Amino acid sequence: MTALSEPKSKSILDSFNETRSRTLELVKTLESDDFVVQTAYFMSPPKWHLGHVSWLYEVVLSKLNTDYEFYSKEFSEYLNSYYRQFGEPHDKGKRGIMSRPTVEQVFEYFQTVNQLVTNFLKKNPISNKADQLFTMGLHHECQHQELLVYDLQHLLAEEYRPVKKNLPPTHSKVEPESVAVGGGLYTMGYHGDGFCYDIELPEHKVFLNDYRIDAFPVTNGQYLSFIEDGGYDDFKYWLSDGWDAVKKNNWHSPMYWKKENERWIVQDFLGTRKINPNQPVCHVSFYEADAYCRWAGKRLPSEAEWEKAACWNEEKMKKTIFPWGNEYPSEKNANLLESYLWNTSEIGSYPDSQSSYGCYQMIGDVWEWTSSEYVGYPGFKSGFSEYNDKWFTNQKVLRGGSFGTPQMSIRGSYRNFFRLDERWLFSGFRCAQDA
Ligand SMILES: [Fe+2]
Repeated sequence: MTALSEPKSKSILDSFNETRSRTLELVKTLESDDFVVQTAYFMSPPKWHLGHVSWLYEVVLSKLNTDYEFYSKEFSEYLNSYYRQFGEPHDKGKRGIMSRPTVEQVFEYFQTVNQLVTNFLKKNPISNKADQLFTMGLHHECQHQELLVYDLQHLLAEEYRPVKKNLPPTHSKVEPESVAVGGGLYTMGYHGDGFCYDIELPEHKVFLNDYRIDAFPVTNGQYLSFIEDGGYDDFKYWLSDGWDAVKKNNWHSPMYWKKENERWIVQDFLGTRKINPNQPVCHVSFYEADAYCRWAGKRLPSEAEWEKAACWNEEKMKKTIFPWGNEYPSEKNANLLESYLWNTSEIGSYPDSQSSYGCYQMIGDVWEWTSSEYVGYPGFKSGFSEYNDKWFTNQKVLRGGSFGTPQMSIRGSYRNFFRLDERWLFSGFRCAQDA
């Protein structure tokens, strides 16, 4: 395969500058008080994200130069998320009670790290190892940009003033339908010569039975039917742990929904408003996705089923990096961060997103829950200590990216993972069925 998921002409330094600018752009309109607040244990203050993504480049520098001295011991302690190789990390739930380092100090640190990395990357030529580690650092920063967007919605919702905001694309009326995919052996995993994480490798064969998969993600309108049919009131749709979560958390709807005067409304970046039935449902946990499927007489796809429906072209007998081919995502085929819609787009908004089997909007809009456990593929080899593989337990895989995912960081083979009761991410799903 010759096509890359990113334009090859772009140097690491160019990508670094772009990525750092996008981080700053996301926080440009915040008030200074906004940077410090942590509104829930699962979110982090914007100040922490700015510092943490910078600190990870210091980690990269330390891996490339054993004599490297970190900027500050105190900063390292506060900004280390979970890497025990660098000492005991600061308590995640207490990131918002720290007034030091100050916001100003974190910005100064951000710029200092920019300078250190720029100086390093200007030394020519850089080694393969440096190239790989800095690229990983960029993709890590992209992950935090998305987490920051989740946090900004939780902190500010419609009070957040994005620097860029576009109108949603026009959409054509479409019927939620499913498409048939033939079974057999499928080789899953990343196939290309761009960047991917260790957990997307090695490519390996899986056997699939014939199946059907929805052409679109499940919509708010479809999910509302589940709610109105008493979906949250009947244990028979739920896994035992899921039913416990419903009771314990008093769930009656997706996160950010509430009922006012007998009407369901949602509160997010676009304001407080009526539920739009044509948008993909968002902010549901694995348990809710699974219960909906059971109610609908369907099931979640496995990640192999999801990936084959997204990336395999039966006629050409080849796998592509994206559903539409190997062309890097743009606003014309996916609702990702740089679309700057700040919400999901209605189904039928991206005719160019079509996979060869006829599935749409698999990249962007919402992360899609799959039935698959998050574990290493057969033959897995860890590429970066403590990054991905120490989480191989009690999580499910999600695929496809969301409207908060930067374009450069998503692929058909990308595996996201969350615990089964988490729903603060932009998470939805599509259903599958046995053929
Ligand atoms: Fe991180």
